[in-house]
Amino acid sequence: MLHEPAWAKVNLYLQIVGKRTDGYHLLDSLAVFPAVGDRLSVAPDSALSLVLTGPFGASLVAEPDNLVLRAARALQALCATSAGARIVLEKRLPVASGIGGGSADAAAALRLLCRLWNVRPDSRDLVAIAAKLGADVPVCLQSSPARMQGIGDVLAPAPDLPDVGLVLINPGVAVSTPDVFRARSGGMSPVPDLPARWPDSATMARDLGMLRNDLEPPAIGLCPVIGTVLEALRAQSGCLLARMSGSGATCFGLFESPAVASHAAVNLAHSNWWIWGGGMSTMTEPT
Ligand code: C5P
Repeated sequence: MLHEPAWAKVNLYLQIVGKRTDGYHLLDSLAVFPAVGDRLSVAPDSALSLVLTGPFGASLVAEPDNLVLRAARALQALCATSAGARIVLEKRLPVASGIGGGSADAAAALRLLCRLWNVRPDSRDLVAIAAKLGADVPVCLQSSPARMQGIGDVLAPAPDLPDVGLVLINPGVAVSTPDVFRARSGGMSPVPDLPARWPDSATMARDLGMLRNDLEPPAIGLCPVIGTVLEALRAQSGCLLARMSGSGATCFGLFESPAVASHAAVNLAHSNWWIWGGGMSTMTEPT
């Protein structure tokens, strides 16, 4: 069996800068990948199949339109292969939660099945099928810090980041991305200027503090507990910034270091909330 992590994606800011005629929003966002995620495993097989396990496995159904199976079929078509795979998705991240989830799983499936089937499609073709699966799938394919533009599918380099810590909290309420986009009112935000690097967490928090997640107010309107989560994060000693990720409901707190974030996550323990604290992932070698 081959294994691949599907790292969670966190949007440190997300500004809506325009709207396309097809209804999709143009955005500017900075995505980072904390060291927490789902895990995919595959074994060779004659057909494609998917089994869901893990703490959030029961929140999804392994139907043919599951993003992992759609990614697998798209790769089969791209590479003109009829090879199959037995895929196991260990769902450790809450679903419909603004931290990539399904997009990260689809991206991990593409990376993993390229290895299993020993195919090396042109990276532009791979990114194109990723973008068709969802606006966040290309950045998850890369799974390293990146600035997202276009509808999220146009990637540019991120500033060099200090070794900060993050706390993630999901209050256990699934939020629909299209509903949050629809509930948004108001004009467009500017495209921010970002430096080439942030030398330390304080500078990073100061600059990020001047930006925002434009989806946070409509998401709080639909799901008020997000406001409670943000208050809890802001009340934690050492929290430099608290904000919602993506279309919610997961929020993050930015901390000086992974150790401070892990400590804060322990302090924040709450029976109904999913809470994680630590540092950023680096793409690990296949295990
Ligand atoms: O691409 P993805 O499937 O993740 O998008 C889910 C929904 O979120 C879209 O159908 C659209 O309603 C909304 N969306 C948007 N603008 C984006 C990304 C998503 O309006 N840039």
